[in-house]
Amino acid sequence: MFTNPWFETVAEAQRRAKKNLPKSVYGALVAGSERGVTVEDNIAAFSELGFAPHVVGQSAKRDLTTTVMGQQIALPVIISPTGVQAVHPEGEVAVARAAANRGTVMSLSSFASKPVEQVGAAAPQLFFQMYWSGTREAMIQRMERARAAGATGLISTLDWSFSNGRDWGSPVIPEKMTLKAMTRLAPEVLPHPRWLLAFARSGRVPDLTVPNLVPPGGEAPTFFGAYGEWMQTPPPTWEDVAWLRETWGGPFMLKGVTRVDDARRAVDAGVTALSVSNHGGNNLDGTPATIRLLPAVAQAVGGQVEVLLDGGIRRGSDVAKALALGARAVMIGRAYLWGLAANGQAGVENVLDILQGGLDSALRGLGKTSIHELRPEDLVIPSGFTRSVGDPPKDRES
Ligand SMILES: Cc1cc2nc3c(=O)[nH]c(=O)nc-3n(C[C@H](O)[C@H](O)[C@H](O)COP(=O)(O)O)c2cc1C
Repeated sequence: MFTNPWFETVAEAQRRAKKNLPKSVYGALVAGSERGVTVEDNIAAFSELGFAPHVVGQSAKRDLTTTVMGQQIALPVIISPTGVQAVHPEGEVAVARAAANRGTVMSLSSFASKPVEQVGAAAPQLFFQMYWSGTREAMIQRMERARAAGATGLISTLDWSFSNGRDWGSPVIPEKMTLKAMTRLAPEVLPHPRWLLAFARSGRVPDLTVPNLVPPGGEAPTFFGAYGEWMQTPPPTWEDVAWLRETWGGPFMLKGVTRVDDARRAVDAGVTALSVSNHGGNNLDGTPATIRLLPAVAQAVGGQVEVLLDGGIRRGSDVAKALALGARAVMIGRAYLWGLAANGQAGVENVLDILQGGLDSALRGLGKTSIHELRPEDLVIPSGFTRSVGDPPKDRES
């Protein structure tokens, strides 16, 4: 039966991803941690918010453009970094081309499957993401390599914590794609001929190495080797964050902020932007949905730095809600990964089009001419919706 490669919602892209991908690869994208409280709340919280639309006097033209860390973008949605291997043979290069075609920024994870040089060649607007991992010399070498490949912004992700298993079971990910590993995975790979064929055509198997963490003159570590380096690196202090920002010297985002006090410290450390993020629910389970935490952070530091949000964005209307509550733009993770798995580069473009179309409809309904006019009053916010954490006591007393 002919299936139209175009899909109308991100939910449909996810259904196709589930169908196309081997169980372990799909499971790695579902991710989440422990009971999945956070990953569920990231999505559920958007459904609790309603809209307050106008019926007459709507604008015929709507402006969706903005800037993030000095980059002019056609819609307030950028690609969030994801370190995922084996979804599609073109991987992050396909995502980068899609982002470029839709006029937005590609953010590349240091745990990605493609070298930053290849991705930089496909993405005129590129940010590079790093964890606090390895020696300072290694971090300098990695950021300089990314800069040389065209990255204009650095994203420092500091909210990753060790995940202690999942109630629904974690995917089995081999250390390396050896013949033995492939034989073991065969029963789950063979029922997914589309995925297998795409890799067969590309002439390579997913090798599960991390090319952007290769030491000078050395070999790319495996995903688990890179993970081991991160585990052994003492966690950073705020002075370390300031050092990283200063060493990079250009636009700098701290990703993973949920607390107001951390947001204020990030401002003191000199960041350009921060993303209110809980790593898509992949870190400490029980962290509230980012959309609940956004208003307090935006109110505290939105006048000083660019505040973004990521976590749970699946529709254009979700983007409108985040902007109304103080985000300058949002970052997407799983939404584009489902698109990539469903239909490669065209699937990522399809997802960006869905978000763009949905945001435009929301603006029309709300009677706005521009995304910059979105305000909390455009939403129906149930009482007790927001969470403000890390407020100094004097704020709480007033
Ligand atoms: C499979 C997967 C891998 C991820 N890898 C990274 C990563 O390498 N670096 C990073 O900063 N964030 C990573 N993230 C988090 C995303 O950048 C983003 O914060 C999150 O996916 C947003 O939530 P959403 O998936 O609901 O959009 C990952 C997320 C997923 C789902």
